Amino acid sequence: MTDAFDKVSSHYGEAGIGERILAALQEEGIDIDALTPEILAPIDQFHTRGIVATREHAALAAPNADMHVLDVGCGVGGPARFLASTYGCRVSGIDLTAEFVAVAQMLTERCRLEHLVDFRQANALDLPFADARFDMVWCQNVTMNIEDKASFYREIARVLNSGGRFTSTEMAAGTAGPPHFPLPWARQPEISFLVPQEDMRVALEAAGLRILEWRDTSADVVAAAQSQSERARHGKLGIRLIAGDDLGERVANSGRSLAEGRLANVMIMAEK
Ligand SMILES: C[S@@+](CC[C@H](N)C(=O)[O-])C[C@H]1O[C@@H](n2cnc3c(N)ncnc32)[C@H](O)[C@@H]1O
Repeated sequence: MTDAFDKVSSHYGEAGIGERILAALQEEGIDIDALTPEILAPIDQFHTRGIVATREHAALAAPNADMHVLDVGCGVGGPARFLASTYGCRVSGIDLTAEFVAVAQMLTERCRLEHLVDFRQANALDLPFADARFDMVWCQNVTMNIEDKASFYREIARVLNSGGRFTSTEMAAGTAGPPHFPLPWARQPEISFLVPQEDMRVALEAAGLRILEWRDTSADVVAAAQSQSERARHGKLGIRLIAGDDLGERVANSGRSLAEGRLANVMIMAEK
């Protein structure tokens, strides 16, 4: 792995995330042998607007039980479990961060969803799958850690079958200067690789993906940022358990940067 990928993986991966989640659930009186995606939703949706954004994405993407979906940068597997349990589709998740993959597997077994959902550690720029293997590629809040956007979109297009859909939420560079750090995906600028929306469009189309929908969701994220930051600071069951105790400050910086036009948030749907 190169230095940049090592740094991204160390930004996310901390020892003991799984134990922390299980202890917090038990403190709330929850039976950790009978978990469900609904119980885990406050903890395992590591992206702007949490489960609300996942539901919107899913409504746009419309997966079904005949599909095999790839979740690129799956984190601890919240979106993958949500898709499988709600739509009955098969979901494979890959993530750069080995600690997240281990937690994703553990939580999936405790939700008894391992017949539909599997995970493995891999880099989005070198997907360990044959060409045209998936009906849908799903990706939430990952590309801001990936510098080589052209190779990223090429890999997505390679593993999608013809007519397959790519759905993604991404942070883009704003027009009003650099964002305020630390941010949820990077405490320092060295692992944050933001580009203007137009550059994303160009890279996506150059990879052979046809854009079906391009939704600027910045205002929605700004509206939710205050309450998300409060929950990250004080909520007992929250993303803080996987993202670190400084998450509240990082989410607040993200909201402020979006409000000032230093960031943009987009939801994309494209087709091969
Ligand atoms: C903000 S988290 C989002 C996790 C998940 N998509 C979710 O919404 O719950 C970003 C994730 O992207 C992963 N990631 C970053 N760069 C990656 C790469 N090159 N290949 C695979 N995963 C990557 C990180 O390890 C992290 O789990």
